[in-house]
Amino acid sequence: MKHLIDILDLSAEEIDELIAVANDIMENPQYYQEKCRYKKLATLFFEPSTRTRLSFEAAMLELGGSVLGFSEAASSSAAKGESVSDTIAVVGGYADIIAMRHPKEGAPLVAAMKSSVPIINAGDGGHNHPTQTLTDLLTIKREKGYFDGLTIGFCGDLKFGRTVHSLIAAMSRYANIRYVLISPEELKVPSYVKADHIKSKHIPYTQTTSIDSVIEELDVLYMTRVQRERFFNEEDYLRLKDSYILTLDKLKNAKEDLCILHPLPRVNEIATAVDDDPRACYFKQARYGKYIRMALILKMLEVC
Ligand code: NCD
Repeated sequence: MKHLIDILDLSAEEIDELIAVANDIMENPQYYQEKCRYKKLATLFFEPSTRTRLSFEAAMLELGGSVLGFSEAASSSAAKGESVSDTIAVVGGYADIIAMRHPKEGAPLVAAMKSSVPIINAGDGGHNHPTQTLTDLLTIKREKGYFDGLTIGFCGDLKFGRTVHSLIAAMSRYANIRYVLISPEELKVPSYVKADHIKSKHIPYTQTTSIDSVIEELDVLYMTRVQRERFFNEEDYLRLKDSYILTLDKLKNAKEDLCILHPLPRVNEIATAVDDDPRACYFKQARYGKYIRMALILKMLEVC
């Protein structure tokens, strides 16, 4: 049985297939509407979510399946002290596939070791978020048409931003990629991510604290929120939260065909005036999340 814990659990070819299926679902939704009849998806969210949980649920419903689950640890038996392993052992008897989000890094991996059904990591602490990466890749493919040769800027909280870590892992498999890592000193990409996915592949990258000095070089700009819930103290969060605010003025020197992404939720890091700029792709990106999750569910349940 296959689980999706890390984006690298999927080969680049499997990602291409998922993107092709997601594109086909967008063209021919009626062909897929009964594919998961009588199948059940459990969404076990021990941490808050809007897009990821609802897009998983919408995905399963649009495939004709059903959903069950919980949206906060407080309403599950975790509040009584149940372990993740025990919860998974039980839920495996009620559902055919499980999407799980947890504040602890590695929790979905532990779950996978105990599970009788496929587990999808829907975000584990400040570590990984592979299905957001599938969403990001589908968006980049649709917007730019290719992956090779792109210069990708990541801006904001690159330390705790799990979507950043997973997207770097995924993009590092393509040819002639270049990264521009824009963050405050305290929120730089963790050294393990750099060592495993950038340095080991000899991918050129620059690190800077200033977005203005690099914006004109970028093909993709991946903005992120400062991850308040992962800070040890509120003071640091308040000091760093508004480090970057993307405005129309800052975009003056950017490429005409820049693709601006954000996994959302946005707090303050993109001015709402940017939403109407044709380069703003983040709401489209959120919409695509449902289709790539439909493709993923079909693949993991081995429904053709
Ligand atoms: C992201 C996450 O949960 O890591 N959100 C999402 O799934 N779209 C990004 C974030 O919370 O900042």
